[in-house]
Amino acid sequence: MSSHGDPIPMTSSACGPLSGTANVPGDKSISHRSLILGAMCVGETTITGLLEGQDVLDTAKAMRAFGAEVTDHGGGSWSVRGVGVGGFAEPDNVIDCGNSGTGVRLIMGAMATQPITATFSGDASLNGRPMARVTDPLALFGTQAVGRAGGRLPMTLVGAREPVPVRYVVPVPSAQVKSAVLLAGLNAPGQTVVIEQEATRDHTERMLEGFGAEISTRETDEGREITLTGQPELNAQHIEVPRDPSSAAFPVCAALVVPGSDVLVPGIGLNPTRAGLFTTLREMGADLTYENERTEGGEPVADLRARFSPDMQGIEVPPERAASMIDEYPVLSVVAAYAKGQTVMRGVRELRVKESDRIDAMAKGLRANGITVDEGEDWWTVTGAGHGNVAGGAICASELDHRIAMSFLILGMASNAPVRVDDGGPIATSFPIFEPLMTELGASVARD
Ligand code: S3P
Repeated sequence: MSSHGDPIPMTSSACGPLSGTANVPGDKSISHRSLILGAMCVGETTITGLLEGQDVLDTAKAMRAFGAEVTDHGGGSWSVRGVGVGGFAEPDNVIDCGNSGTGVRLIMGAMATQPITATFSGDASLNGRPMARVTDPLALFGTQAVGRAGGRLPMTLVGAREPVPVRYVVPVPSAQVKSAVLLAGLNAPGQTVVIEQEATRDHTERMLEGFGAEISTRETDEGREITLTGQPELNAQHIEVPRDPSSAAFPVCAALVVPGSDVLVPGIGLNPTRAGLFTTLREMGADLTYENERTEGGEPVADLRARFSPDMQGIEVPPERAASMIDEYPVLSVVAAYAKGQTVMRGVRELRVKESDRIDAMAKGLRANGITVDEGEDWWTVTGAGHGNVAGGAICASELDHRIAMSFLILGMASNAPVRVDDGGPIATSFPIFEPLMTELGASVARD
């Protein structure tokens, strides 16, 4: 059951070549951060290209509940009149973050050092996900949290009245945890220091700097050490949200597996903390090129051109690359099914605590469609059937997880029999135009 309505079963089947241009929506990570940081400024932040997926819309609603004036001007153009660092109002009601782990964890961080109380909840997926990874470091600032067993939502946070700055070594590779601590550090006096052993996406650091915070990063023996000076005055910005590499992954991977395809996906950020999938695909022998490489808003950007690649080979994905492609393993496993030989993915324990247990969800669905998958707690392997040999024909559970639903629909685009997902509803959380965009390229994907 999808949280935002009845299940939407969808089916994809083999189609002719995919061709044309895929203009994917704005980056989800940057969209959440634009709204939250905009709400923590004095003045009006303007945003273009905001992802209008349900996850981000839930964050927009939450920022209104904390007192910011958030306005939708149409066509991805938004503005946020912020309340300043430390200026959040106490929400009248429960903050419903829907399906979004990023939304809830970042917002918890942002409110944790303000003298207000807020209760957070979400859908069945979000209410099953671990929150102690965020509330443990927030407790060091003086924030109290009371939730359900195992640190699950619904959960109430009582913000610290007299926050103290913290030094925190993040125990799991998580940009959400790092970002929650940094956002909490904004309203603590003095310097908050966060150390991450593995580099994760650095949008929060880059954007805090853009908003005028004093923040620096250096490599140490312990890892990447980020130091933020608290209680800055953040300056309202204009933000052009780049297109989302995690969404680009779907038309790119579809083009690689559907015979005869040639698809252009323009304007995709290739920030090294996000672009691991594209490196991996190229190592597998994918015909994936970067055209018109340029720098936009301080980030490397290129137009991705993906063509049908019948001779891809399975590889061992370096575990140190995991953080830079953590959301892309489900769709990589689909490409691996069409490659020859084994693809080995290690160091991916975090996949088990996403919107679903993504190793388990993909393993079940791939096996049902005739693909051999082996798994352990923090690794899995997919043995490729090779092009033309993926059976398909099964119904897969999307488990309230947008990326699982889209991955199986890509699987069905070149399999011998159609692939069905029980609920495509979650796709709207991150890629609301997935169905028309893929159809426009020539895919056969539809609601049943
Ligand atoms: C995100 C961080 C990642 C990622 C998620 C977005 C972010 O989660 O999976 O989709 O915007 O910070 P983790 O921090 O749990 O790795």
